[in-house]
Amino acid sequence: MKLTLTALALTAAVLCPPPAHAAKEVFAHVIVGNVPAFTLSDWTSDMELARAALIDGFVLNIAPQDPSTLPSVALAFEAAESLNFTLFFSFDYLAQGPWPADAVTALLQKHTPSPAYFKPNGKRPLVSTFEGPANAGDWPAIKAATDALFVPDWGSVVPAEAVGLAGGVADGLFTFDAWPEGDTNMTVDGDRAVQEALRGKEGGGGGVYMMPVAPWFFTNLPGFNKNWLWRGDELWDMRWAQVMEVQPDFVQILTWNDYGES
Ligand SMILES: *[C@@H]1O[C@H](CO)[C@@H](O)[C@H](O)[C@H]1NC(C)=O
Ligand SMILES: *[C@@H]1O[C@H](CO)[C@@H](O)[C@H](O)[C@H]1NC(C)=O
Repeated sequence: MKLTLTALALTAAVLCPPPAHAAKEVFAHVIVGNVPAFTLSDWTSDMELARAALIDGFVLNIAPQDPSTLPSVALAFEAAESLNFTLFFSFDYLAQGPWPADAVTALLQKHTPSPAYFKPNGKRPLVSTFEGPANAGDWPAIKAATDALFVPDWGSVVPAEAVGLAGGVADGLFTFDAWPEGDTNMTVDGDRAVQEALRGKEGGGGGVYMMPVAPWFFTNLPGFNKNWLWRGDELWDMRWAQVMEVQPDFVQILTWNDYGES
C-alpha cells in the first residue's frame, strides 16, 4: 500500500501541472494505533518515504485509551523535528470513544509549540478530529486554551449543521467522503456542499476546507461487522483532477497505513 501510494502520488504530481495558485499542503492520515512497535527510525523512514512522494506531513490519528498513543506521538515529533517534517493531530472520537477535553488540551499544549506542528501561515496550530460532533461543546474551551485552528471531520452530521455546532466553533471542516458508492463515479457534490456551508458560516468569514483524496477502500473486519468494497479503479486520478477543480485549502490522503480498510 505504501509503495503503491508513493508511486501513484508521484504519477499525480507529474501529470497535474502546477496550479496558478499558492502552494497548498497535502497530508496523509496515519493511524498511530496501528504502529505501536514503530521505533524512531521507522517513523523517520516513513516520513522520508512520504516526503519523496511530495506529501508535506502526517495527520496523526490518535485514540484516547490506547497505551501506545503517547509514546508513539513523542517519537513521531522527535523524527519530524529532525527532518523538518510536519504533523498535526486528528483526535479520534469513534474508534475507542470520545476524548476527555482536558486530555486534548494537555496534548495540544505539549506538542503545538513544536516547530514540527502544522501552523498555516505560521499562525494557529491546525487540529482535526475523526467524528465527535456530540463533543462539539468541549471545543470553545479547548480553543481558548490552545489557540487551535479547529477543522474537524463531523461527517456524520450534514455540513450545514456541522458549521453551527457549539456556536460555530469549527473554523473549517474536513470529511471522510472520499469514495463513490456502488457503480457510480465520485463527484465533487460533497465537497461543494461543505464549501457552501462554510461560506454561510456566521460572520460571513468562511472557513477552511480540507478535502479528502483516496485511491480505494476495501474492508473485511468481521469483528467490526465490516465487509465491503467501494470502487477504486480510476478514483485516484479522477480525485486529483477534482482537487484542481475544487481548490480546497488543504488535502488529506486517506490513508497512509489504515491497512484494515483503506
Ligand atoms: C523547513 O521547512 C520549511 C517549510 O517547508 C522551510 O521554509 C524551511 O526552510 C525548512 N528548514 C530547514 C532547516 O530545512
Ligand atoms: C464514470 O466516468 C467515466 C470516465 O469519465 C465514464 O466513462 C463512465 O461512463 C462514468 N460512469 C458512470 C456510472 O457515470
